[in-house]
Amino acid sequence: MKFDAIIFDLDGVICFTDEYHYKAWKSLADEMNIPFDRTVNNRLRGVSRMASLEIILEKYTGPALSEEEKVRLATKKNDLYRASLAEMSPADLPVEVKETLDALRAMGLKLAIGSSSKNTPFILGQIGLDGYFDAVSDGNNITRSKPDPEVFVKAAEMLGIAPSRCLVVEDAVSGADAGHAGGMKVACVGDAAKNGAGDWNMASVRELISIAK
Ligand code: BG6
Ligand code: MG
Repeated sequence: MKFDAIIFDLDGVICFTDEYHYKAWKSLADEMNIPFDRTVNNRLRGVSRMASLEIILEKYTGPALSEEEKVRLATKKNDLYRASLAEMSPADLPVEVKETLDALRAMGLKLAIGSSSKNTPFILGQIGLDGYFDAVSDGNNITRSKPDPEVFVKAAEMLGIAPSRCLVVEDAVSGADAGHAGGMKVACVGDAAKNGAGDWNMASVRELISIAK
């Protein structure tokens, strides 16, 4: 086999929480009269919460904001986002994702999460994947967000597998860049695939089964 492990991004790869991120940021931006659309939203993929806020504030024209006010805004967005996450259940884990994960595991591959999100443990619990992965590296154990490779390098370390034997799966261009910076091959879906950011650009995660062989 070409790989010993697969490290999955979470939002936009395992489940469609990327849409909840968009809706929560959109609501905050509308309230502050900041232009915000899906094109800007694509730049937030893979990027930490505070760095995402800074991208949104590029078009803000109101009075200067203190660091404290920025933290309050990010918290407000996160509260809105968490309200959507609270509604999630195992039905929000797409069947093609669960079948693909199980097939890859049956092939003998180690499976990990590499996500910038601090909400990762909550989301995995909501969709019924608590304890499923061999390693979980997320926004709670990193200091630099994607495109820095830290989150993927830490996942590989947790698994005890060399980066060159790990395949990263991403929907974010920043995440694909992070995987490459960590010395890993990258398979993309969604926005990153449209941008040709991966070594493989997939229409469905099911393609991972033949890519990993
Ligand atoms: C990433 C998302 O997975 O997590 C980003 O793609 C998000 O859009 C980042 O900003 C941080 O998420 P959270 O849940 O810690 O606010
Ligand atoms: Mg993502």
